[in-house]
Amino acid sequence: MNTHSISRRHFAHLLGVGAAAAIIRPRFTVAAHEAMKNAHGVCNRYPDEANDLLIDKIAKMNNVNREQIVLGDGSSEILKLCAETFTGATEGKLVAADPTFESILEYSKACGGDVVKVPLTSNYAHDLERMGAAAQKGLIYICNPNNPTASITPKNDLRDFIAKTPPETMILMDEAYFHYADSSDYESVIPLVKDHPNLIVARTFSKIYGMAGLRCGYCVAQPDTIKRMHGFQMFDSVNVMALVAASASLDDVDQVNNGRKMSNDARTFTLTELDKLGYKSIPSQANFIMFDCKKPVVPIIKAMKDKNVAVGRLFPAYPNHMRLTIGKQSEMEAFVNAFRQVMAA
Ligand SMILES: Cc1ncc(COP(=O)(O)O)c(C=O)c1O
Repeated sequence: MNTHSISRRHFAHLLGVGAAAAIIRPRFTVAAHEAMKNAHGVCNRYPDEANDLLIDKIAKMNNVNREQIVLGDGSSEILKLCAETFTGATEGKLVAADPTFESILEYSKACGGDVVKVPLTSNYAHDLERMGAAAQKGLIYICNPNNPTASITPKNDLRDFIAKTPPETMILMDEAYFHYADSSDYESVIPLVKDHPNLIVARTFSKIYGMAGLRCGYCVAQPDTIKRMHGFQMFDSVNVMALVAASASLDDVDQVNNGRKMSNDARTFTLTELDKLGYKSIPSQANFIMFDCKKPVVPIIKAMKDKNVAVGRLFPAYPNHMRLTIGKQSEMEAFVNAFRQVMAA
């Protein structure tokens, strides 16, 4: 029997290796596939050329210099580097939202740093005032759109916040879901990097470019910040296949629009069906949704798994909410059928 995997983290081990791979993300581009086939001949070499080429492309695309880019083995490596470089007993604490994408909290704890969690506002935005007040040197992590809520923090609030944060406090803006956000209240803060030495913006090829298994991400920051991060980074951490696939993906002009459309169509279907069943979602600006199940989500997650549908994990700040990655239309239909049965039981 097929397992419909609508989430991957922490459930892959329950469902077997195939489950993680079964999640439908935007298909990764034909151009990326071709680039990887062509790169077989250079797998015996260190990846400097492919590395330089990708850095040049990313720098050009973001209107910055190549000294302002660090590539990572997924944006996870960028998050880890930021925790290592800017948090810890001497550098200071990490301030993050609750709930948010929690990996950086773990990296920071491993560096011996204190971690302060600040609840999201009632609109599911980052509570910038409280986050700023809680910070002292160290690093403020802002995930926009936020995982797991798929909500955004308004652009004007972010601009003010970045302008008034003291330069000795670093800000890491995680824009993993940037391509899915279409609200007029949303913007990338990459253009603000030139005026703010304490701002770092992380991006990934795992989402809209469908490269989660290949592992490639990057960040944009000022050259001095990048130099500090390099000190903690492994040499050649991004492999040549990921580098050539990422370069080719950037050249594929249709990839972003196609990925966004595929996700939006399936998301609209899912939200409509959930609404008919009486379940309201937090307004989503990402390729996943979070909605209120009106009762504890843990038994529902388990019951869904018994029906071979893996959904997102528990986020303790919202014990009644389910996080659901948007997959293919057929997968979302399978989810709706299973969910209807589970909630009626
Ligand atoms: C907000 C956010 N940031 C970063 C990551 C890490 O992504 P990757 O390491 O695949 O680039 C994820 C993955 O789910 C995420 O949701």
